[in-house]
Amino acid sequence: KGDPRLEAISQAIRVVPHFPKQGIMFQDITTLLLDHKAFKHTVDIFVDRYRDMNINVVAGIEARGFMFGPPIALGIGAKFVPLRKPRKLPGEVISEKYVLEYGTDCLELHVGAVQPGERVIVIDDLVATGGTLKAAIRLLERVEAEVVECACVIGVPDVKGQCRFIGKPLYVLVEPR
Ligand code: PRP
Repeated sequence: KGDPRLEAISQAIRVVPHFPKQGIMFQDITTLLLDHKAFKHTVDIFVDRYRDMNINVVAGIEARGFMFGPPIALGIGAKFVPLRKPRKLPGEVISEKYVLEYGTDCLELHVGAVQPGERVIVIDDLVATGGTLKAAIRLLERVEAEVVECACVIGVPDVKGQCRFIGKPLYVLVEPR
């Protein structure tokens, strides 16, 4: 708190009312990616937090976790592992379904990408209900990884900062506007 970089990050995220449907205030991080200073601040804050925590794996959630995860992984000297939507990964996978407002979705992990005992952080752009993060945690725990924390750029107010509503610590930078 009080970090001026957080205000710059918040201001760089575009809010698009009624996208993709009526009533949703879409938090568009593509404008954050256009602002190289704010994007760098975002990566720097996560790298500073995780660099000395013996993290082996940064697991990024499709699609926008793929935009923040790789620079963080490079910054802390960890491997990057994509958690993908169904039928995208070519190798042997394990899958976890999760419930959405309408219907279900699924995340998949390549068998062998994460070893038992490896220390993992899970990265995404945004947490809303936490359902997506919970599916990611279940996947990683099935291969006996240690999920140290989940990290998102944007989080709803009641789950801001350190929170255990997903069963793991959650670190978020800014609230939705
Ligand atoms: C969004 C967002 C998170 C998830 C958060 O992705 O990028 O992954 O929703 O919602 P939750 O906390 O309620 O689970 P989306 O499902 O739109 O998928 P996409 O990245 O493939 O567009």
